Amino acid sequence: MRNEKLKILFDQQAANYDKQWAGMAPIRDALYLLLDSHFTCLPENARILCVGVGTGAELAHLAERFPNWHFSAVDPSGAMLDVCRQRAVQNGFLSRCHFHEGYLDTLVAEASYDAATCFLVSQFLLDVNARTTFFTEIARRLKPYGILANADLASDIGSPAYEMLLRGWMTLMSSDGLQPEILERARAAYAKDVAILPAQQVAGLIKAAGFEAPVQFFQAGLMHGWFCTLQIDLI
Ligand SMILES: C[S@@+](CC[C@H](N)C(=O)[O-])C[C@H]1O[C@@H](n2cnc3c(N)ncnc32)[C@H](O)[C@@H]1O
Repeated sequence: MRNEKLKILFDQQAANYDKQWAGMAPIRDALYLLLDSHFTCLPENARILCVGVGTGAELAHLAERFPNWHFSAVDPSGAMLDVCRQRAVQNGFLSRCHFHEGYLDTLVAEASYDAATCFLVSQFLLDVNARTTFFTEIARRLKPYGILANADLASDIGSPAYEMLLRGWMTLMSSDGLQPEILERARAAYAKDVAILPAQQVAGLIKAAGFEAPVQFFQAGLMHGWFCTLQIDLI
C-alpha cells in the first residue's frame, strides 16, 4: 500500500521533477564529481545498475562521462522511467540502456553488475529491516568486488544540528524565502514519510547487507553519500 502511494506520488511528479529540483544542481554536480573519482577504477565496458533511477540524472551523467558503459535503469514509477528514456533518446545513449519498470526484486538476480548507484531511494523505506533487505537485493546483483554508491538524506533528527540543517535545506528549496509553515510541513513529512536516520546508522544498514564498511564520501546539507565494496566472503 505504501509502495503504491509512493509510486503514485512519483508518477505525479515526473513531468515537473527536473524543473522542481533544478536549484539543487550544484549539490548534485558535486556528488557526481566525487562519484566519478570512485568509479574510474571500473572496467572500460562496465555494467551499472541504477536503482530508483527516477528521471535519470545520475545515469545521464555517467553515460556521458563513460561512453562504453551500459546501464540498467530500475524504477517502480513508469512516468519517471519515461522521462529517463526520453533523456536517453535526446542525449544519444538509448542503445546502452535497459529499462526495468518495477522494484528490484523483480529484476533477474544475477551477479552481473560492476557497480550500482542508489541515490535518494532507500530513505523511503521506513522499516530498517526492509531497508537492509533492499541493500541485500543490490548486493545480490553485483559482481565480486562490485561497488555500491548510495546517497540519502541523513541526520539525527533529535539533535539541535538537525534543526539547523533542516532550516538551511528548506531555505535552499524555497525560492521565495522560508515561510514557517513550509518548515513545519517539511519537518512533519520528514518525520513520517522519510526515514532520516543518523549517517552512521545508514552506513550500518548497508554493511549489514553484506558490504565492506561504507565510506562516507559526500555531505551537503542533509544529503550524504557513501561508497562501499561487496564483501567477498559472502559470494
Ligand atoms: C527522490 S527520487 C530520486 C531519483 C534519482 N535517483 C535522483 O537522484 O534524481 C526517488 C526515486 O526512487 C524510486 N523508488 C522509490 N522507492 C523505490 C524502491 N523501493 N526501489 C526502487 N526505486 C524506488 C521512485 O519512484 C523515484 O523515482
